[in-house]
Formats: sequence, structure tokens, C-alpha cells
Amino acid sequence: MPSSSITLTDNRNGKCYDYPLIESTRGPSAIDLRTLYRDTGLFSYDPGFTSTASCQSAITFINGEHGELRYHGVPIETLATEHTYLETCFLLLNGNLPTTQEFQALDLELRHRAFLHTGLQKLFEAFPDNAHPMATLSAAVTALASFYNEHLEMVDENEYLEMAHRLIAKIPTISAFAYRHSLGIPLIQPDIDLSFTRNFLTMMRAYPGGKMHLGDSGYEEIKEVEVRALDTIFTLHADHEQNASTTVVRGVASTGAHPYVAISSGIAALWGRAHGGANESVIAQLEMIGSVKSVEKFIARAKDPDDDFRLMGFGHRVYKNFDPRAKILKQLQDELRNELDLDSELMAIAQKIEEIALTDEYFISRKLYPNIDFYSGIILTALKIPKNMFTPIFVIGRTVGWLTQWIEFKKDPQSKIARPRQLYTGA
Ligand code: CMC
Repeated sequence: MPSSSITLTDNRNGKCYDYPLIESTRGPSAIDLRTLYRDTGLFSYDPGFTSTASCQSAITFINGEHGELRYHGVPIETLATEHTYLETCFLLLNGNLPTTQEFQALDLELRHRAFLHTGLQKLFEAFPDNAHPMATLSAAVTALASFYNEHLEMVDENEYLEMAHRLIAKIPTISAFAYRHSLGIPLIQPDIDLSFTRNFLTMMRAYPGGKMHLGDSGYEEIKEVEVRALDTIFTLHADHEQNASTTVVRGVASTGAHPYVAISSGIAALWGRAHGGANESVIAQLEMIGSVKSVEKFIARAKDPDDDFRLMGFGHRVYKNFDPRAKILKQLQDELRNELDLDSELMAIAQKIEEIALTDEYFISRKLYPNIDFYSGIILTALKIPKNMFTPIFVIGRTVGWLTQWIEFKKDPQSKIARPRQLYTGA
């Protein structure tokens, strides 16, 4: 029997089964249970995959007990403070940070690929004016698959990267189009002279011709501090190992569907309030609470087992300590206080919630800490981004993570179609 193994005893008949351990490079190792059913005739039961590793991955590492997050070994704090989102994209897709030349090549390629086929632009007209941008975004990414049939059969690294770069470049354009369509205002094409993040903010805010709002002192420019803040938000969202939407992306990848359809499915999964949709819900909830003096009442509701009210932006399946992304955003929020118009009332309510929750037995015993979504909304609001675009912003940041995971899945010889078993309890 190998020393690195677990022995399972079936107490009904005394039979023992040995299962080897697969050692991780960081964090918990795993028991290799692939032959469990063949050996014992039993399934493992684990709804929500709380104890199940669905794959081996070398992309992102999270230590939830210590509040640690790394992409390819690089701490998130380093990426958020010393690198840009595009450098982070390169790191995720290639395993290392880019040289200056590599960065310039990626930057230029994404600027060129940001445009949408005019045929696809017509799709936006089919949606009602008040369509949620997440619905339009998911549909448009599925539609994009029909323009790039060749991505169905890819064989080498260059093809994978071309496909990924194309989608990373186009999703901000699709998101901005979805938003502008929801307002009934003319679409703004990408500007090849602008960097990735500035281009997105311009497509959101500008008047046709790229002109900005005409204020008392002439045209208001997008400030560099705004670009940096949004770029950091994209970096913090870039990947998060096997979360719900990534699991969906890998699941769709496992059927052999077109990669853009897998990403579109990830977008749909992200929309939910328990996942990426929480950022929109946090601000809606802070607005609903309305004042610092009402906070206690809502905390009591969150703790009441008979009330399904939950504090949005609190709790996480993996983090049982402060979410490191939330720490970075809280710090960014403090830094932006003097430079941007942050909503002081919402910030006061958020601060009160945080103060109470971090000292309250209910939250302490369940290890419920603020997560990334608790702070992102206040910053996004100061960047003049409306609530219904918060989750599309998450999508823009996460697209590279989904694509990197999709590529890893495709290259992994152990990948199989996702097909869990069930514990039948019916007639
Ligand atoms: N407010 C009040 N109670 C909570 C909360 C909350 N936000 N989150 C969890 N709990 C309680 C829950 O009621 C349960 O209590 P009990 O043991 O008495 O039944 C306990 O904490 C464990 O909760 P759970 O639902 O079993 O935990 P989970 O790991 O299945 O769910 C979660 C994680 C993120 C879905 C959940 O914490 C939640 O719904 N949070 C609010 C939504 C949110 O902020 N989501 C964004 C997550 S971060 C962005 C991302 O990566 O998607």
C-alpha cells in the first residue's frame, strides 16, 4: 500500500479500499476517487462540490484561511499595485508577466480586435430598450460564435491565443454597446488610439465623435485616476479558480461546444446574486437600508434564520478570512476619497455594516467577511458607472480567467465530459 494513500473501510462488510493521494504544490492535496464506484458500487455525495476538486489546475491559487490569492504564483497585491490589467491577462494566458515588447504587441493586437462586425451590431436593435445589459451581453457573445466558426477546431497554441485575444478585446465593446442600447443612445465605436481601460470608459461615457460631457470648463476628460481604479478592478476580477461560472465554462467546454458559447454560459452563471450579480445587489441594498441608523435592523434580519434576507457582499465559499481583493478595494476607496466624488452616505452605511458584522458573534462564528463585491460598487458609482453595468464590468475582468481555464481544460489529457452522478430518492 503506498504511504500516500487513504484507506476506506466499508463497515457493512469490513472490506477495505486504498485510494492514492494526489499531492498539490500549494494547499490541500486530494484523494483520487476515480475508481470509487467501480471498486465499491458507491458514489460520493457532495452537493455544491464543497469537498470535491473537479480538476487539476496550475492557474490560480487561493488560501481561503489566510486570505491569499495568486495568479501563476504572483500575489494579487503585487498585480493590483505594480501591474496593469493587460499585463495580468498576459500572465494568466502565458504563465509569466510580459516583457515590454510582448506587452506592446498584446496592447496593439487588442486595440485592433476591439471592433465588432457590422452584422453583429444589428443584433442590439432586437433587444428592448430596458434590457438588462447582462442579457444582451450573454446573447451577443453567443452570436459572436457564428462569426468565427473556425474556433470550433483549434489545434495549436497560436490559435488558442488568437481566439482568447479576440474575445478579451470585443467584450468591452459589446458591454458598452449593450449599455448604450439600453439607454437608446448612439453606439460609440472603439478608438484605436486609446488603451484598453480608457477605451471602455470612453465608449461608456462619450458623445458620438468621442466627445466628453461639456462642462463649465470645457470638455471633461476621463481622469487618469479613474482609468487606474477601473483597471485595478479588472485585475482583481481576472480569475478565481473553480468558482460557479468557471465550473460552467469548463462544463460546456467538456461537451465540445464552441468556446464563445462556453464563455456566454459563464456570463449567464455570473449574473446571479450569489455570484457576480452581488456587486449590483450590494449598492441596491445599501440604498434600501438608506441611513446609518437603519443598519442594526437589517443586520438583525440577516441573522434571523426565518428571514431569507442576506447581507450582500458578505461571505464566501472559500474565504474564511478577509477576501484579499476586498482589502485592496477598501484601500483603493480610501485613496480615491480626495480625488473622486465617492458617495459619503453609502460609504457611511457600508462602514457601519462592516463594523457591526466584524464584531458580531453570528458573522464571526460563520467566518463571514466582506468580499470583493462589498467595496467595488461604491468605487464603480464614483466612476459614473450605473448599477446595471457592475456585473458586465465583472465579466470584462473575468473573461481572461474563463478563457485561460477553457484552454487548460482543452489541453489536459485527463479532461472528461462533465457528468456527475446522483443519489436517486424518487419512486
Ligand atoms: N448574510 C447572512 N448570513 C450569511 C451570509 C450573508 N451574506 N452568507 C452566508 N450566511 C450564513 C448562512 O445563512 C449559513 O448560516 P447557517 O450555518 O446558520 O445556516 C452560513 O452563513 C453558511 O452559508 P452558506 O450559504 O452555507 O455558504 P456558501 O459557501 O454555500 O455560500 C455565498 C457562499 C457567497 C453564496 C454566501 O455567503 C452568500 O450568499 N453571500 C451573499 C452574496 C455575495 O456576496 N456573493 C458574492 C460572493 S464573492 C464574488 C464571487 O466570487 O462571486
